[in-house]
Amino acid sequence: MEALVDRQQGAATIPAVLILLGPPGAGKGTQARMLEERFGLIQLSTGDLLRAAVAAGSEAGLAAKAVMEAGGLVSDEIVLAILKDRMAAPDVKAGVILDGFPRTAGQAAALDALLAEAGQRVTAAISLEVDDLAMIARVAGRYTCADCGEGYHDAFKLPETSGTCDKCGGTAFKRRADDTADTARARLEAYHAQTAPLIAHYRALGVLETVDAMGSIDAVASDLGSIVSRVSA
Ligand code: AP5
Repeated sequence: MEALVDRQQGAATIPAVLILLGPPGAGKGTQARMLEERFGLIQLSTGDLLRAAVAAGSEAGLAAKAVMEAGGLVSDEIVLAILKDRMAAPDVKAGVILDGFPRTAGQAAALDALLAEAGQRVTAAISLEVDDLAMIARVAGRYTCADCGEGYHDAFKLPETSGTCDKCGGTAFKRRADDTADTARARLEAYHAQTAPLIAHYRALGVLETVDAMGSIDAVASDLGSIVSRVSA
């Protein structure tokens, strides 16, 4: 992969395969988009890819829809097929931030194998550390711009002008079908049962980093930016 440039510092760094680990509401999507802008990395969100498949009515989307609405995990087979397809696109050569992937031991092993085929490995797996209870409020208050996807929150991140997206000026907003308090609880359970054990996997590989993600969005972004600069230097 080609050299990365920190757009805030102007410093040259090497390309990276970064993983953001964390329960629903931890800020993976929010922070991935900020890192994308700052470092020119590409955000790969399996949640977004699956929602696109659901909206397109594809076979994978039809199979995923009910599982996602119940807060469970979509099968490794479907997720890996969608991710491998996206990883084959030329833009990922700029370096990637994996947001919401891997989520199971099988997905982590498949990612390690996929990267090994290309002579690469995970640069860093960054665990966003949060309190579960606060995550229910974060998820239940979330909404996004229907035009550009910019994320907002009823209490924590309002548009500067009420009803108008800061980024694109759009005036239509939407909420996810799985952003109810009940589904958020099911998603938290799935995270602790199937995804949190990956923290030990990445610790054993020597690539685990942790961030206190209970601070403000900007404070977390600053800590993450320092890690990305360090691990990709
Ligand atoms: P996915 O879309 O990945 O959802 P998730 O992991 O549950 O994560 P969220 O998008 O809810 O949270 P986030 O951490 O991105 O938080 P955000 O930045 O938006 O997956 C959805 C479903 O798809 C899964 O349940 C599963 O069914 C399926 N799926 C996806 N990937 C899969 C896989 N690999 N395998 C199997 N199934 C898969 O922030 C949340 C809100 O909080 C926002 O409003 C934001 O503004 C606010 N906020 C963020 N940070 C802060 C902060 N520091 N302080 C205050 N507010 C904050």
